[in-house]
Amino acid sequence: MADHSSPLPLPRIQALAAADMASVDALIRTRLASDVVLINQVAEHIVSAGGKRLRPMLVVLAGQATATGGRTGADHHQLAAIIEFIHTSTLLHDDVVDESDLRRGRSTANAIWGNAASVLVGDFLYSRSFQLMVELDRMEVMQVLADTTNRIAEGEVLQLLHVRNPDTDEAAYLRVIERKTAVLFAAGTRLGALASGADAATQQALYDYGMNLGYAFQIADDVLDYTADAADLGKNLGDDLAEGKATLPLIHAMAGSDATTRERLRAIVQDGDSTSMPEVLAAIHATGGLDYSRRRAMDYAVAAEAALAGLPESEALAALRGLARYAVERTH
Ligand code: IPE
Ligand code: IPE
Ligand code: MG
Ligand code: MG
Repeated sequence: MADHSSPLPLPRIQALAAADMASVDALIRTRLASDVVLINQVAEHIVSAGGKRLRPMLVVLAGQATATGGRTGADHHQLAAIIEFIHTSTLLHDDVVDESDLRRGRSTANAIWGNAASVLVGDFLYSRSFQLMVELDRMEVMQVLADTTNRIAEGEVLQLLHVRNPDTDEAAYLRVIERKTAVLFAAGTRLGALASGADAATQQALYDYGMNLGYAFQIADDVLDYTADAADLGKNLGDDLAEGKATLPLIHAMAGSDATTRERLRAIVQDGDSTSMPEVLAAIHATGGLDYSRRRAMDYAVAAEAALAGLPESEALAALRGLARYAVERTH
């Protein structure tokens, strides 16, 4: 019998999800279309750049892990496409808000077509996702997704309130990342289980898994904004500091530095001063801010794995455990 006790490595996970993901990809492609040329151009630009497709992969693997005989179907694929559409629309909006120039290794839509086009095509993708969810004709699904998108919007606005605010602490940071990132992961994995006909306890387990994974994923993203290779990441580094966004490495540095350094860091956050990156990095290194953040991310990944403990073993379950590790160990 296969040993499912250790997390699966990424290529095995991708192979396990490949057939489902081919259907999801086809659905994304066909449902992207509009007879408005600019919508096709902008949407094609961001979607054809790929991205990791992690969220839809989580939907189908959560589906496999909870379905009788591991069998997923059209509803799983539709839900996975919906989650990726929502994600993509938030990226279009996020790059406007963050004034980012690089996404998925390409110039951002806002850099090419401007802010207005990006926001409006983001709205198109958002509302297209709602058209897809209405087709499923299940009130529970609509409830979950309506609540989720509403919480994401709250998260983005909450984050806006913290921009250039040096008093942003770890608790406030966690409140933001729960809403802007983790709830979508949680909705995806829960809906994967719901589409499999799983009971309420199983749906809750998958929800808890997704939520913890989402926290881990965003903390890792915030570490990568300081440490990654830009070409590998497909995004520019230092975007968070440039817009005065204090994320966990910097929050930890502010809390752990001496008074003089703390005042400097606070001023840098207030000014959104990216030219001070070397100074900020020095303070982050001196306080162990990156290791601290990576440990926090790993804590959430471990909690994600623990949420799956009561479920029957399968290769899909081992894949979900593998993705929890991947979320924190990734380089892009
Ligand atoms: C980026 O998400 C936004 C965050 C929540 C950090 P991803 O890193 O999953 O983006 P893509 O889809 O792979 O480009
Ligand atoms: C994630 O935050 C935002 C969304 C949930 C859309 P970031 O601003 O850190 O995401 P990236 O780094 O631009 O992908
Ligand atoms: Mg951003
Ligand atoms: Mg980021």
